[in-house]
Amino acid sequence: MDSSPFPPLYKHIKHKHTQNNIFQNPKTQTHTHTHSFKPTNMSTSTTTTTTPSTTLLIQCCYVLFVLVAVVVGAADFTSEMNLTWGGDRAKITQNGGLLQLSLDRASGSGFQSKQQYLFGKIDMQIKLVPGDSAGTVTAYYLSSENWGSHDEIDFEFLGNVSGQPYILHTNVYTRGKGSREQQFYLWFDPRLAFHTYSLLWNPQQILFSVDGTPIRVFRNAEGLGVPYPKSQPMRLYSSLWCADDWATRGGLVKTDWTHAPFTASYRAYRADACVYTNGRSSCSSSKATWWNQALDSNALKKLKWVQQNYMIYNYCNDAKRFPGGFPPECALKI
Ligand SMILES: *[C@@H]1O[C@H](CO)[C@@H](O)[C@H](O)[C@H]1NC(C)=O
Repeated sequence: MDSSPFPPLYKHIKHKHTQNNIFQNPKTQTHTHTHSFKPTNMSTSTTTTTTPSTTLLIQCCYVLFVLVAVVVGAADFTSEMNLTWGGDRAKITQNGGLLQLSLDRASGSGFQSKQQYLFGKIDMQIKLVPGDSAGTVTAYYLSSENWGSHDEIDFEFLGNVSGQPYILHTNVYTRGKGSREQQFYLWFDPRLAFHTYSLLWNPQQILFSVDGTPIRVFRNAEGLGVPYPKSQPMRLYSSLWCADDWATRGGLVKTDWTHAPFTASYRAYRADACVYTNGRSSCSSSKATWWNQALDSNALKKLKWVQQNYMIYNYCNDAKRFPGGFPPECALKI
């Protein structure tokens, strides 16, 4: 493949792990600035006003309406996303309703959200590169900007030759430390149709879901000394690039450029979230529904079903990799 599908401004990070680690995981990110963020100051002003006064009620409704319009009704990619990499390989069509990234021999492409979020529920429908997508990686993730001590929540879709399954690779970084990979096959072919990939991030847990089925939970384990992402706002990023040195069957299968350009499609973006601007966070009115959301027994059942039938790698089961003992959060039950 071409030496670098990464834009020159982006950092190309190769995570260095132990010899056992199969995840040399290059990432592209715009971590060119270093910010320090003030401690969070969650604003809940929109949910507290109740007086009999009609004026106040109207004002309140207006504020709610604006917040809901800004935060929740967010299917328009033109207003929500910046196309950051790959020139016209990244494009928005259908009046802001469809975003597509493509990859050819010369370059991949990417986008990022204009807003930063501090907690939220983020949904996106994605249709992955169809047919022979071997060697391609579609990354879809939240990340803060404070590189070196950053937080990050990752979905990465590793392509495959036609008829062979994608791998959904996940990871969580807190204060710059990752190495928390879990990998899955999906119970459907993600090339054939749009499916919803969701991240629910609240103070207790990070929940990864696919079409509403939870596949992974990362619990707040501060009690065990594990940092939890709770003060650095994160932006949503996605990029499509060639990683045929590691992505498909560990790098054995290379990208077949006669099938280029490779294209991934996105629609129905919804950020039901707390938007962070100027050191302040303001939350959607529907915050209440996800802020305290935990796994109920039905969700737990589904999560176990996925983990038993579709999980192909879990760092918490990889004893060879952690000879000195598993990371502390592995002690928590799913
Ligand atoms: C690709 O297909 C092979 C053969 O079925 C499988 O072993 C591998 O896990 C699949 N996915 C990737 C991303 O390599």
